[in-house]
Amino acid sequence: MKTPRIIGHRGACGHAPENTLASIRKAAELGAEWVEFDTMLSADNRVAIFHDETLKRTTGTHGNVAETNWDSLQSLDAGSWFDDAFRGENIPLLSEVIQLLEELEMGAVVEIKPSRGHDIQTAHLCANIVKDTWPRSLPTPILSSFSEQALMTAREQAPDIPRALNMWRSLDGWQERLQQLDCEALHCQHDLLDEAQSTAILAVGYDLRCFTVNEPARAHELFNWGVSSIFTDFPDRFSE
Ligand code: G3P
Ligand code: MG
Repeated sequence: MKTPRIIGHRGACGHAPENTLASIRKAAELGAEWVEFDTMLSADNRVAIFHDETLKRTTGTHGNVAETNWDSLQSLDAGSWFDDAFRGENIPLLSEVIQLLEELEMGAVVEIKPSRGHDIQTAHLCANIVKDTWPRSLPTPILSSFSEQALMTAREQAPDIPRALNMWRSLDGWQERLQQLDCEALHCQHDLLDEAQSTAILAVGYDLRCFTVNEPARAHELFNWGVSSIFTDFPDRFSE
């Protein structure tokens, strides 16, 4: 499936606090046509946009997302850790992000990022929200995950939404895993990739996208190998 070369990572997280509405707006402002963000469940099963299992790094609060109700999560400041100018920026819900994407006319890779042990439930709820509420005006999204259980659940719940497997430690078993999970693409940590590996992956018909690429020279090399898109914290560093 066709995606633009530049996809903002967690919005544009080099310029604004990751996985916030401000970060997605920033990505749009910097010219990105698509963004990636992470979806995780609150204790009361709301699909929130958040990366870590713990609240510490981006909200300065103790506790785990999976053990915190949405009422408490939504009152946290997820902006000032990045810069005081973003004080009061909230953790958004998936539904709010989808509304903003519609307003900004942006496409997205929706990463299913389950807290440990919550793979099936996270994918179930996330895939259904995407299936039921994705604006018709936007390009079809991609559901991605490191979790095989999550991808299998996404396939059951929303078979028509394309899926991508994320890999970051090694590319071992990529072909069997992509095939078993019926994915259309591999999203991998760019350091894992060389030209031969890219050629092999593309030759059997999968799309290839790489994270997290912040250096234009590396992006250029990856595009030359046939990588369709990069996820970057700095969409402004790259011209299409
Ligand atoms: O979806 C690509 C990339 O975001 C995966 O890594 O840890 O930044 O979610 P991470
Ligand atoms: Mg991610």
